[in-house]
Amino acid sequence: MDKVKKYDEVIKQIIAVVDGEPSATARYASAACLLSGAFEYFFWTGFYVVDPLKPSELVVGPYQGTLGCLRIPFGRGVCGAAAQSLEVQRVDDVHAFPGHIACDSRSNSEIVVPVLHEGSLAAVLDVDSTEYASFDSVDEEKLEYLCSVLLKGATQS
Ligand code: SME
Repeated sequence: MDKVKKYDEVIKQIIAVVDGEPSATARYASAACLLSGAFEYFFWTGFYVVDPLKPSELVVGPYQGTLGCLRIPFGRGVCGAAAQSLEVQRVDDVHAFPGHIACDSRSNSEIVVPVLHEGSLAAVLDVDSTEYASFDSVDEEKLEYLCSVLLKGATQS
């Protein structure tokens, strides 16, 4: 199956699974699980959420993969850059990214997508691959779409 179709299917499935679920955590966990199972090159798939007690710091949320770093300040590394700029970061070679945080040295490329809830940043979706330049404009477009709908209807963290 081609990548566009696969994304369309898995996103449809995620939306169906989380429909009516108030908990954002349950939504993040379901999305991380289904995305990670759908794409072989997703080596680390998960969410860093904005810490309500430290609003310029991300703390690790639900993920699939090897042990992730626990906390990332806004502005640090790829996730921190996405959180600060509110823009998708698509990085072909993470070792060339200033301030990149190497949670697992096997990661070589990465995409990070901001997740907004009612206009403010709630989390970022981080996907890492062991290959260089794994993520293209299809990954960016589809993951951005997923993140734009993932928290619709969520009423608790
Ligand atoms: N590499 C990321 C850190 C998170 S992990 O890879 C799971 C970064 O620089 O933001």
